[in-house]
Amino acid sequence: MEAELSKLGNNLVTKFHVLMRISQIYDSKNVALNQFINEFLETVNTLIKESGVLSLKIIKDDFFLNEQRLRYSVEGFTSVKDVATQWKKRLIGEVIFKTLMGEDTLRYFIYAFINLEEGREENPDLLKKQLESHQITSIDVNPWEIVEGEEEAFTLQKEDHREVGKKIFFETIGTIKEVITNIKGNQYADIRKLKRLAQKAIHLVIEDESILLGMTMIKNYDEYTFNHSVNVSIYSLAMGKRLGFSKKILTELGITALLHDIGKSKIPREVLNKPGTLSSEEWEMMKKHPLMGVEIVLNLKQLGEINPRMVVGVFDHHLMNDLSGYPRLFLKKEVSLFGRIIQIADSYDAMTTPRIYKKIPYTPEQALAVMLREKTVHFDPLLLKIFIGLVGIYPIGSLVLLNTHEIGIVYKSNHDPKLLDRPIVLLVDRDAEGSATKELIDLTDTDRAGNYKWSIDKTLDPYKYHIDIAKYFL
Ligand SMILES: [Fe+2]
Ligand SMILES: [Fe+2]
Repeated sequence: MEAELSKLGNNLVTKFHVLMRISQIYDSKNVALNQFINEFLETVNTLIKESGVLSLKIIKDDFFLNEQRLRYSVEGFTSVKDVATQWKKRLIGEVIFKTLMGEDTLRYFIYAFINLEEGREENPDLLKKQLESHQITSIDVNPWEIVEGEEEAFTLQKEDHREVGKKIFFETIGTIKEVITNIKGNQYADIRKLKRLAQKAIHLVIEDESILLGMTMIKNYDEYTFNHSVNVSIYSLAMGKRLGFSKKILTELGITALLHDIGKSKIPREVLNKPGTLSSEEWEMMKKHPLMGVEIVLNLKQLGEINPRMVVGVFDHHLMNDLSGYPRLFLKKEVSLFGRIIQIADSYDAMTTPRIYKKIPYTPEQALAVMLREKTVHFDPLLLKIFIGLVGIYPIGSLVLLNTHEIGIVYKSNHDPKLLDRPIVLLVDRDAEGSATKELIDLTDTDRAGNYKWSIDKTLDPYKYHIDIAKYFL
């Protein structure tokens, strides 16, 4: 129900976005507008029929449909962002649709809205009066309220990076989805866009890796393949940065990681998403994905963007340190550096993501423990050490219990190797109205006597506490 409403809400905002854009191009009499007006009407009226009065409201960066926060969707992300900006510029924070809407009403409203002067405080009142003078009683608007809170000081300086991070993250997911769809349909796939996005991500990772690392907590069950590719790329880039790679090599690594499972696009969906164990035939097919990936990569039109390092990285990302794994080799070779990096990122992300055959995934801590147990056989021990240094003993996104009995989420790891157990933690709490508050604390803070103010007692399982970790990173 909640998901359904979220979907319809995102749909509504996206259509509002289109309408807004179109009305900036054409005048209100233009017939080109009709189709978009009608599409918006269809969605809004469906929602009104279902829930009566419909309020669409912005609080901070989020849209709320009748008090329910709309979850981000990959497709809708850019529209939602843009609509929010347009509303804020005009200082409108809420639009209420009270009764079923007609074409003329909506047409009048959208132009009145678009023509509001940016940054003018009187806008909400002005718009109300305009609607009234046109006997429009079915739409009401309210001013945008700037929410002040403790978090503001922190978000202000972080805001830009975080916004950039979200944009890169969702855009990359959208682009990899496009690439995979095109490859499936044997169509032209443009990977130059992936390259540009990888470069942007590298820029951000160098500035502050914790932002993109936090985004890897958004585990999207339905869009596993796309999210997974992006997450593996983020982990790989952060490792590459620590290994001192140049921007050029980092770009290659980023693209290789994004494409590492591209061979899976040739494997039938039923096999990929099979809930039970695979038959030996299916498993054989599955094991071919690195090789099929190589074939796809070599067939890419912009082959100039690809070099042997990248091809080999795709080829051996399931080849273990002891050369077990797949594809089976007839000659002994060393697993490539890209392959070894991607392998660690790949295993960690796969283990910490819920899958159709394993609904409750490992916590970050459990996943690291498994990897450490298998380290000499499966992973490059040195790279694994770097990876652990990167995600911390308490990886970003771990739910932790503090000695003060407060619960928090690890937000950013400590760069000092001696202080890996003292990350920045986001306290999970609720204010009087029951909405989540965000307070960041630094576990290296001490009191006057020099004792640490907070320490981590243990990690907790977010599934047991019904805490949606991803929410805190958006
Ligand atoms: Fe793979
Ligand atoms: Fe993978």
